[in-house]
Amino acid sequence: MKLVDRKILLNPGPATTTDTVKNAMVVEDICPREEEFGSLIEGIKTDLVKVVHGEGAYKCALFAASGTGGLEAAITSAVPEGKKLLVIENGAYGARMVKIAQTFGIEVVHYQLEYGDYIDVATVEKLLAEDQTISHLAVVHHETTTGMLNPVQKICDIAHNHKVEVIVDCMSSYAGIPIDLREWNAEYIISSSNKCIQGMAGLVFVIFKESLLPSLANQKRSFYFNIYNQYVGFEKTGQMQFTPPVQVCYALRQAINEYFEETEQGRWNRYQNNWDVLVEGLQDLGFSFLLPYDQQSKILLAIIEPKSEKYDFDEMHNFLYEKGYTIYPGKGAKKSTFRLSVLGDLHEEDINGFLSELKRYMGSL
Ligand SMILES: Cc1ncc(COP(=O)(O)O)c(C=O)c1O
Repeated sequence: MKLVDRKILLNPGPATTTDTVKNAMVVEDICPREEEFGSLIEGIKTDLVKVVHGEGAYKCALFAASGTGGLEAAITSAVPEGKKLLVIENGAYGARMVKIAQTFGIEVVHYQLEYGDYIDVATVEKLLAEDQTISHLAVVHHETTTGMLNPVQKICDIAHNHKVEVIVDCMSSYAGIPIDLREWNAEYIISSSNKCIQGMAGLVFVIFKESLLPSLANQKRSFYFNIYNQYVGFEKTGQMQFTPPVQVCYALRQAINEYFEETEQGRWNRYQNNWDVLVEGLQDLGFSFLLPYDQQSKILLAIIEPKSEKYDFDEMHNFLYEKGYTIYPGKGAKKSTFRLSVLGDLHEEDINGFLSELKRYMGSL
């Protein structure tokens, strides 16, 4: 079964995948307009909603794109002309949503924090109370810039008290951290095929409240990234409007099967255990972290870069890369960091293997 060497990706996706997910891409050639392929997509869309307990109230629009495409679809489809979007930015992915909105001429109310600072929900409340023209709020669940888990439940509750709809970027939390849409009640969440769901890169999905379809029908900002057209187009024809990455869809089917086999709690437990092993090992090596423990996602860790003059991130990266471990640089956090993530098909022995190579590197400094 094994096709290629196993690499340990400690970057926050695209993730290390199982051999069975890789092999699922080797399928007979098929035209995506065939009924058989339509059934595959229908099943994927239904199950993506189930992962976040949205059955009955939520639907899924699936696009061929990277994660950013899904953010663009949600923002451009959701916010009506003449209304404003409140974006909470405490990392680079909040900033990305600001840029998307501005690109399409959507007026943004910007709650900007340093990358690594925790959201003050009283400020969110104040900003919403001050401006009745805000119709939507956008926030990142797991801010991959720093590894911070933002307080989405509280933010959704405040927004809904102000009759404001919520768009949550769940790119690097969906299928890793348990999410229950019956509690959040968020209007839109977005994630992609290559992060905690552990499929291949190439698909992004927006899970949205079905009751929003009539208002979504009025949005014409984008032709390709249009939730209504993409969702209704598939419902009418059983085909995706535009060519999907066929083999990536088969891999996603397999990845979803593996998610349900592992179970929501089982995956979370595995990620948490890997994270605990990683944190302990790094502390033993003398590392410290950007965020306090209770703000951590337990999916990604931003680690303060060593002070040693001999330390060089690229050198450390290359040393570890040669041994089969991929690490990730920092991204504008308020202190200088590098990042390690446990999302993907990773197990305790992988983390221990990484830690012993890192120890060798640190010893060489
Ligand atoms: C929280 C978050 N949002 C958005 C994105 C953007 O995804 P992509 O690079 O697939 O466009 C990422 C990517 O890592 C992310 O972590």
